[in-house]
Amino acid sequence: MIANLRSFALKITSYIQALLKFFQAALHLMTQRYRSASLRFKIAFFVVIFMTSTSFILSIGTVQIMNNYILNEIIKRGESVGKSIAASAGYNLLSKDLLGLDNLVFKAKSSNSDMLYVAIVDLNMKTVVHSATEMIGETKSVAQGQLFREAADGTTVKELTNSSGSIFEILCPIVFMKKSLGSVVIGMNKSILLEAQRKVSSMILIVFGIIVVLGMFTSSLLASFLIRPIKELSAGVEELKYGTAKNPLRIYSQDELGKLTRNFNEMSAMIANQRGKLTKYARDLEVAYVSMVKVVAAAIDARDSYTHGHSARVAQLSLLIGKQKGLSKAKLRDLEVACLFHDVGKIKTPDSILLKQGKLNKAEYTEMMQHVEYGASILSWAPSLSKYIPSTRHHHEWHNGKGYPDGLVGDNIPLFAAIITIADAFDAMTSDRPYRKALFKEEALRRIDHMSGTQFRPELVAIFLELMEKSDVQDAPLSVVRFA
Ligand SMILES: [Fe+2]
Repeated sequence: MIANLRSFALKITSYIQALLKFFQAALHLMTQRYRSASLRFKIAFFVVIFMTSTSFILSIGTVQIMNNYILNEIIKRGESVGKSIAASAGYNLLSKDLLGLDNLVFKAKSSNSDMLYVAIVDLNMKTVVHSATEMIGETKSVAQGQLFREAADGTTVKELTNSSGSIFEILCPIVFMKKSLGSVVIGMNKSILLEAQRKVSSMILIVFGIIVVLGMFTSSLLASFLIRPIKELSAGVEELKYGTAKNPLRIYSQDELGKLTRNFNEMSAMIANQRGKLTKYARDLEVAYVSMVKVVAAAIDARDSYTHGHSARVAQLSLLIGKQKGLSKAKLRDLEVACLFHDVGKIKTPDSILLKQGKLNKAEYTEMMQHVEYGASILSWAPSLSKYIPSTRHHHEWHNGKGYPDGLVGDNIPLFAAIITIADAFDAMTSDRPYRKALFKEEALRRIDHMSGTQFRPELVAIFLELMEKSDVQDAPLSVVRFA
């Protein structure tokens, strides 16, 4: 019995070790190759693994327990029959009532189909009666099989192997009036035991198989039940991220997932509200920023009564060129602000030079040329204005490289600067100056055309001249185009 229990414990240990290895391999697989697998798959996978392994261990354990139970019950029955015969056979043996003994053996054999033989032997192991009559008179050799059980009254059970297979031989001593007279020997067919064990094992395995299938089905349902709100939450987070969330998510339950969904809906509504406020603030800020730029431009122009409104007019003309060139709305907006900032450096130019009535001498002209670098320096103070530095610094460059401050040539001159150059020159020519009256538009256009390829980029000159031929453009009010 102890040996059986030890064997059973060893089997269970080996099964558990095999299962642990399987779990380790499964975990490795999950972490390495299926890390990106869906949550539904992971839940179903782990539930199925858990159900299968649990059912497997339980079925193995149950089969083992049932086998031991069946074995004990069969042997117990054999022992019981043997003891019953031994109790009755004492008197018959003493009185040499062979008919009575034969009757006992016959009844026992005929009522137990799993008994291969029933015999009564005397103290010398000589067979007195036997269910197989030809064995009567034979001396029974002492069985050499493995001792399976030994009771205190001398009853022994041995497992033997002979030509017909494995059997359990039960030997019950016959004691009458405290005197040993012989033994009852019963041979139990082990194959009947194995057949019973096989039937029970099959039934247990079928039951656990059904449990596994039901477990898989249930886990699939459970996964669906759990995954649906999680999937909708995931989609809700995605929509929230891109600002496309419209309706609150459906709350399926009042458990932790339901609370999570409710909290998400509240958070989503709060974020949407804050996003709306931020959008409004951003618009207000943009309007304030454009207004500030216009004020700065007006302040620059206001220092010289002759250049009043100059930056705004340059912006309008530049926008016309930019539109015709096919610039995007965002680029046109940048171009407008770039125009308003293009002469910001003149803030540092002394009044004695900026407002001088006559022609500038060389030193004064050199100082006047510095306004482009002053402007670039002023704009560099604010990172958000740094994108306007190239157009401010290079709006006096010439297409042929003879401009200032860097002598850039052709397409090396930034596009905004090249556009502003034409608009700036046209507005300067068509405005009164202290030392000359304004030129007629036709004369100004003729001079710009004349300087195409030397001072101005030919492609932009062509666009500008074509635009200025249109009467609606010429008559357009000199106001800054709004893009806010
Ligand atoms: Fe300028």
